Amino acid sequence: MKTFVFSATGNSLYVAKRIGGELYSIPQVINQEKREFEDEVIGFVFPCYGFGLPRMIVDFLHMSKFKAEYFYAVMTYGNKAASGLKHLENTGEEVGIKFDYTNEILMVDNYLPLFKIEDQLNKEDSKKIEVKLEQIVSDIQSRRNLLTKKGIVSDAFSKVIHNLFMKKHLNTGDKQFIVQEDCNSCKVCEKVCPKANIKVNFKPVFLHRCDGCYACIHHCPHNAIHLKYERSSTRFINRNVKLQEIINANNQYIK
Ligand SMILES: Cc1cc2nc3c(=O)[nH]c(=O)nc-3n(C[C@H](O)[C@H](O)[C@H](O)COP(=O)(O)O)c2cc1C
Repeated sequence: MKTFVFSATGNSLYVAKRIGGELYSIPQVINQEKREFEDEVIGFVFPCYGFGLPRMIVDFLHMSKFKAEYFYAVMTYGNKAASGLKHLENTGEEVGIKFDYTNEILMVDNYLPLFKIEDQLNKEDSKKIEVKLEQIVSDIQSRRNLLTKKGIVSDAFSKVIHNLFMKKHLNTGDKQFIVQEDCNSCKVCEKVCPKANIKVNFKPVFLHRCDGCYACIHHCPHNAIHLKYERSSTRFINRNVKLQEIINANNQYIK
């Protein structure tokens, strides 16, 4: 089994580790010359962005070839996933992947413009993450067939929201980032960025090819990077994941 994962703050990485198989980091493999993958089971684990897929997932699916008997996908989300998985199904159809299993799992929401991480952490237990995760792991082990559907009204609504959302966040979304005096040029932001969008000389410079994942903001050891509009300055990393794992998965500079 091959499990492809993209994760900014560790939720999706934790889920991927629990599902198991050979783990591949999408920010790394997307830059390989040869992107042809074959196995009995191939799966994708990633966060929901604006009721749809992160741009990196769409790009990776379009730029690669996959052959498997069983395809699965798990989307982590923090509040409302809406028809994010329909976006996946549609993208799958465009590239010749017919998914056998799609599911979503409610975790801590890392979207700083709308949520305070401290509130999210207080609600974490009520999300029953482990119960849902055990179900997903067992479903995939038993090769269950299940597609998560939300209906055509939700599908249409999600598509509109996702397109608007992406216009706001992609590429120049990093113009909303503010670097404060506490920055000591440690380069963690550069290393956790899955798009090589940050170059630190004295202070981080954002290169306007941002995917809006906020990894740089959440992982800054000095809490020196902020959004112009954020609900609070508390930051998040999934408790089962270490910063070094995010660096290993996302770093585009040191391979
Ligand atoms: C840019 C962005 C957009 C997001 N959009 C949604 C969303 O539409 N619905 C939702 O429930 N959560 C949304 N979230 C929250 C993440 O999907 C959620 O916290 C996810 O588990 C993070 O996964 P990660 O830790 O692997 O990066 C968004 C987060 C970011 C950064």
